[in-house]
Amino acid sequence: MDFESFKNEAAYLLKINFDGYKLKRVQRRTDSLMRRHNIEDYKKCIDKLKKDNSFKDAYLKKFTINTSEFFRNPKSFKYLENEILPDLINKNNDKIKIWSAPCSNGSEPYTVAIILNELGLKNNEYEILASDLDKDILKKAKEAYYSSSSLKNVPDKLMYKYFNPLSDEKNLYQLSRKIRNSVKFEKKDLINDRYSSGWNLILSRNFFIYLTKEQKDILTEKFTKNLKNNGYLFLGNTEFIFNPRKFNLDKIKLSFYQKNLK
Ligand SMILES: C[S@@+](CC[C@H](N)C(=O)[O-])C[C@H]1O[C@@H](n2cnc3c(N)ncnc32)[C@H](O)[C@@H]1O
Repeated sequence: MDFESFKNEAAYLLKINFDGYKLKRVQRRTDSLMRRHNIEDYKKCIDKLKKDNSFKDAYLKKFTINTSEFFRNPKSFKYLENEILPDLINKNNDKIKIWSAPCSNGSEPYTVAIILNELGLKNNEYEILASDLDKDILKKAKEAYYSSSSLKNVPDKLMYKYFNPLSDEKNLYQLSRKIRNSVKFEKKDLINDRYSSGWNLILSRNFFIYLTKEQKDILTEKFTKNLKNNGYLFLGNTEFIFNPRKFNLDKIKLSFYQKNLK
C-alpha cells in the first residue's frame, strides 16, 4: 500500500480529512510512529488502526500536536493587553466576542480571560469560545490543571491571583474557578465544520504552520468573513498572511491583522 492509499483509508477510520495539511509532515509523523511500534508497512498500520484503540489514540496525538502555554509569545500578549483589547473595549457597547481556534489545552483562551479580568471586565461583558478538533485535549482544558512548564511566562502577581497549587502535586496548579467559568469549549474541525459569525477577535495561532498554502488561504477567508468589521485576527509569531488586502485585512503589528472593508 502506498502513502496515498494509506492516507485515504486512515482519514476514513480516524474521521480526519488530511487534505489541506502538509502531506510530507503527516507522512513523516506516520513513519516515525510506525517505527516506534515496529510496524513494517502502511497496510499493517491500517490493520492496527482498525483493531487497536490505544494505537488509534496514539496516532491522533502524534498528528495533532497539542503544545501550548500561557502567554505564549509574551510581547504579542502585551500588545493584545495594551492596544487591541482596550480598542475593542472602547469602541464596543455590546459583549466582546472572542474565539480561540484552535485552543489546545486552554492556555490560550484562559490567558485572554485573565487579561480581560485584569482590565476590569466582568464575565458578562465578554464571551470567549475555545474550540479544537481533539476531544481529549478539550477535556483537559476544562479541568484546567497545568504544570509549571506551561506557566513559565505568567507574571508572579497573576500566578498568586489565579492559580492554586495542588497540595500533593508540587508541580501542578489549577486555574481559578472564576477564569475557568469564563471560557466555553467546543469540539470543532476548522477545516470541515461551519464557523459562527460576529467575532471581534479571532486567535488562530500555531495552526496555519501545519497547513498547505491553499488551505491557509481558505481558512483566512473563512475567519475574515466571520469577523466583525474592524475586528482582529491574531496569528502565531511565525505565521504571516501574504497579501492581506486580498482578504480585506490590514496588517497592524507583530501578528495582528484588522478587518477593514474599504
Ligand atoms: C500547536 S496547537 C496550538 C494551540 C494554541 N493556539 C497555541 O498557539 O498555543 C495546534 C492545535 O490544532 C489542533 N488541530 C489540528 N487540526 C485541527 C483541525 N482540523 N481543526 C481544529 N483543530 C485542529 C490540534 O488538536 C492542536 O490542539
